[in-house]
Amino acid sequence: MTPTKFLLTALMSATLASPALTNPVRDGQLAGLAAQAKKEDAGFAGFSAERGRALYQARFATGKAETPSCTTCHGTDPKGKGQTKAGKEIGPMAVSQNPARYTDPAELEKWFPRNCNQVLGRECTAREKGDFLTFMISQ
Ligand code: HEC
Repeated sequence: MTPTKFLLTALMSATLASPALTNPVRDGQLAGLAAQAKKEDAGFAGFSAERGRALYQARFATGKAETPSCTTCHGTDPKGKGQTKAGKEIGPMAVSQNPARYTDPAELEKWFPRNCNQVLGRECTAREKGDFLTFMISQ
């Protein structure tokens, strides 16, 4: 195989295997969060989809009583739809179902603080945000 053909084949299979999973803006957000997480904790060793899942499913007693969990609005299955307390539909959080997810920094800046305060009673750390995104990218 010529080098050019090899490159093209490699590129095509990467694209076909994960059309939704790479996005320059989302990847940039993750890189920024990783740098911040390292500042918050020198022992930071990378994000974890498993910790992201745990955060997504956990029930907190420290936020608003009517929204103990991310799943309260986003639904237990990240691939499924959610619903606000007022009954407004929320699209799936899983990137496989919604490739445009987490690709607009303004949306992340708006919703992470708001939702974390509502559920945890505090802002999420950079590690928690990165774990959450890593989980959603894996779904
Ligand atoms: C009270 C309801 C509610 C709860 C609880 C909630 N969210 Fe959300 N969230 C929303 C709504 C509404 C949106 C905006 C609609 C959309 O993005 O489809 C949103 C959007 C987001 C976004 C932006 C998505 C994007 O495409 O950029 C993130 C990130 C997010 N939520 C994270 C969380 C996390 C983490 C938790 C738990 C700590 C949580 N949410 C709990 C209602 C909620």
